[in-house]
Amino acid sequence: MQIIHLANTSREWWREAVIYQIYPRSFASFGGGVGDLQGITSRLSHVADLGAHAIWLSPFYKSPQKDGGYDVADYRAVDPIFGNLNDAKNLIARAHELGLRVIVDLVPNHTSDQHEWFQAALADPSAPERDLYWFRKADEAPTDWLSVFGGSAWTRVCDRADAKGSPWDHDDSWYLHLFDPAQPDLNWAHPRVREEFTSILRFWLDLGADGFRVDVAHGLVKDPSLPNYQYHWDMVSGGDLLPADVPPPPQWNQPGVHDIYREWRAVLDEYEGDRALVAEAWLNDPLDAKLYVRSDEMSQAFNFDFLTSPFELAEYREVIANSLREMDSVGAPTTWVLSNHDVVRAASRFGLSKTGKGPNGIRPFEEQPDPELGRRRALAAHALGSALPGSIYIYQGEELSLPEHMALPDELREDPAFFRTKGAEAGRDGCRVPIPWEADYPAFGFSPAGSSWLPQPEEWKALAVDVQLADEASSLNFFRKMYRLREELGLGRAQLADAEDSYLHYVSSLPGRDDLHIVTAFDDPVPLPKGAKIVLSSDEVAPSTVNDEQVAPNSTVWYTL
Ligand code: NOJ
Repeated sequence: MQIIHLANTSREWWREAVIYQIYPRSFASFGGGVGDLQGITSRLSHVADLGAHAIWLSPFYKSPQKDGGYDVADYRAVDPIFGNLNDAKNLIARAHELGLRVIVDLVPNHTSDQHEWFQAALADPSAPERDLYWFRKADEAPTDWLSVFGGSAWTRVCDRADAKGSPWDHDDSWYLHLFDPAQPDLNWAHPRVREEFTSILRFWLDLGADGFRVDVAHGLVKDPSLPNYQYHWDMVSGGDLLPADVPPPPQWNQPGVHDIYREWRAVLDEYEGDRALVAEAWLNDPLDAKLYVRSDEMSQAFNFDFLTSPFELAEYREVIANSLREMDSVGAPTTWVLSNHDVVRAASRFGLSKTGKGPNGIRPFEEQPDPELGRRRALAAHALGSALPGSIYIYQGEELSLPEHMALPDELREDPAFFRTKGAEAGRDGCRVPIPWEADYPAFGFSPAGSSWLPQPEEWKALAVDVQLADEASSLNFFRKMYRLREELGLGRAQLADAEDSYLHYVSSLPGRDDLHIVTAFDDPVPLPKGAKIVLSSDEVAPSTVNDEQVAPNSTVWYTL
């Protein structure tokens, strides 16, 4: 038995919180086929009843929606498709009434090309706003950098789709966009950029936001000498295909980003109530994650190593031990994350022949996951992660075991990753399909209009919230029970030991209660000790034929002795 994490005595709310990610376009609508803030407010009790402590809202700011709202045209305004600022205030108030904290998404690496700064920069090459971005005069693209979404990370102003007949029709300068050309990168060396973002933080803190999820937190600072660097950086898992002798990337994970987060931490600390910052940083070296969560920087970082880990004993054991050790070394909680709006849903990903880092979407002609296996494993992985110390992120629909939508016709796709790779990547639309609420309503109750901006698969009828609420053995009721037990047993702040068995076996301890054993079985069943009292089993939802004395393959059991 080896203790791998000590019980945690600091009590900031985010240290052990279950945080539910809402993707506003697809959670619930009060009007037409696109989700909106009033729709979210009306359905928030679902999240509170699940046992979550907070919501993280993906962007709902004014945006041309070229990248699902991660292209912000005005950081202080709500996009009309989602409502208005008053709706945001009502949403925050309702969440607080239900005991839910609210984390909003901050997108500081780039603005939309429709942002007033970029529009001013486009209109006049001598405008001071040019310095707020990365404009360069050159015959060729200034570097060989690749956009995360595919193709070059530079676009010539005169090559923009809106150039013809515009004042910039003959402007042959280039601008940098690590994502889509509609998302020009900001120059964080400029004091105006820094001032603007602290002011934006204050704006949302004053409105009652309890924290921020920081988009592309590893990207803000670039090496100003702009050296070439042709390796592709991947969504979520970073540049994991880099040869060992490659120098650190000049556009990612530059040490200068940490000064920015120290400045932000100081702003958040002026406000009462443990406001949180969570880093979305796709790092090449998992050991770098702790740098973002030192005590004077952010509160948490998404644990993408857990998300991308293959569903295998050795890999899980390693990633769990490493995550706890690394975060403990700086006094930060780890996060257990299995899905978000950028990856294939866990219930499908785990059903592929190769688990671990996979494609960003699945099309009908690609390998189709085994749905039962995927669901079982996702539930097992959730039951494991939910028993571990730290905080949990759950993406809307995971509590319903929603699979990826794999039959989406290409004409309906919106993800720029699909277009910029000319279809080589399916893109992320398949994990962004609107939630089924009521089985017997059009669009499964997603909107009063009976429509949804992406079609929902017919099979989702059986997965609708109302159907699952009425079924004791549903995924939804399992998650509710699991989070209730997690809270009652204080699992998020407990001590954890690795029982060092030949299978995955942890022991969670906290004074005043019995030790809780957590066992995950992978391909082979694991025998349960005599007298084990089962507290929770992911098999309750996805029953197998294995008898009660065993932990069935691809399941997790919590028990006491
Ligand atoms: C990460 C977000 O999660 C993703 O959806 C977005 O496309 C990129 N950042 C760019 O903002």
